[in-house]
Amino acid sequence: MVTTHLDKPYSSEEAEPVMASILGHLEDLGLLQRGRCFVEFGAGRGKLSHWIHEDLKTHEDLQLLLVERSSTRFKVDGKHQDTGAEFERLQVDIQHLDLRKVPLLQQKKLPLVGVGKHLCGAATDLALRCLLETSKVREETEPAPKRLRSSEPRPGEDPETSEPGPGTGPVLGMALALCCHHRCEWRHYVGQQFFLQRGLGPAEFSAFCRMSSWATCGFRLSNQDCPSQDPTNQRVEHEGHKPAAETDAVTGACLSACLPVCLSVSERQHVGRLCKLMIDGGRHHFLKTKGFSSKLIRYVEPQVTLENILLTAVPSCPSSFQEESHPE
Ligand SMILES: C[S@@+](CC[C@H](N)C(=O)[O-])C[C@H]1O[C@@H](n2cnc3c(N)ncnc32)[C@H](O)[C@@H]1O
Repeated sequence: MVTTHLDKPYSSEEAEPVMASILGHLEDLGLLQRGRCFVEFGAGRGKLSHWIHEDLKTHEDLQLLLVERSSTRFKVDGKHQDTGAEFERLQVDIQHLDLRKVPLLQQKKLPLVGVGKHLCGAATDLALRCLLETSKVREETEPAPKRLRSSEPRPGEDPETSEPGPGTGPVLGMALALCCHHRCEWRHYVGQQFFLQRGLGPAEFSAFCRMSSWATCGFRLSNQDCPSQDPTNQRVEHEGHKPAAETDAVTGACLSACLPVCLSVSERQHVGRLCKLMIDGGRHHFLKTKGFSSKLIRYVEPQVTLENILLTAVPSCPSSFQEESHPE
């Protein structure tokens, strides 16, 4: 079932349906509220943060942290510097980001909400690790910090919160619109355990990644003689996103040589979608081991984009936020 949220006010001409639906799902999860820090991974120009801010701009207690490794032209976050909300852009690879060390997050320790629009391949896994493995107020191995008797707050401590110094608020949830599974990498993949438990390893993962591109470009790889039937021509192109056929032409040719040539276009697309589902299944499993209840939602019609899966997650037990619970 597709849950598109096109009834939401964000579905104006300017705010594309993709954005409208992501915001609608954030709202449904109770995440689109003030008193939060939204961390947008792979932010590009920062349009998702822009629309989150548009929705919540009457509220001062709002932080938006945009994470993007490329230097980006035509950023939209610069427009909001004089509003009540705090915008900050970090030009960093997600794999090198430790949220506990970000001063903005240390100050108020607002609860975190992870967001992303068309977060390519491995960037999704890096974002999940970053959110769930670098946001804790303290590591389980560390003893709880002793409280000072003094009523004076320590440097970096918000008197309203109980945890001083380095660290962030808890992770309240996330909504990540996925894409480009062919760009996933085993070394970053959060679902390694999920694969290994099923007797699958890096080689199989690599094959799933390569075949996943059939979901979005099965036409071009398998049926070069009928490009006019390619409906993706009309679809939303993502910023900084190259279609799998361009980035993966050699792989595609290789797979075409190895696999039955009799697969029809729709069969290839189906296999591609199953491969994506398998990869996302590992992410769902990872989130479960971290105490989160997650869903994979088709959030827009395929006519809008074939990359139409949204990974959402909220703590399974809201009071315990990030406890390492729920073993399989
Ligand atoms: C398909 S684009 C989407 C951009 C934007 N969110 C949008 O929807 O228009 C993916 C973005 O993620 C960024 N990205 C990919 N991997 C990243 C990483 N490891 N660390 C930081 N940014 C990354 C890319 O530079 C690119 O801007």
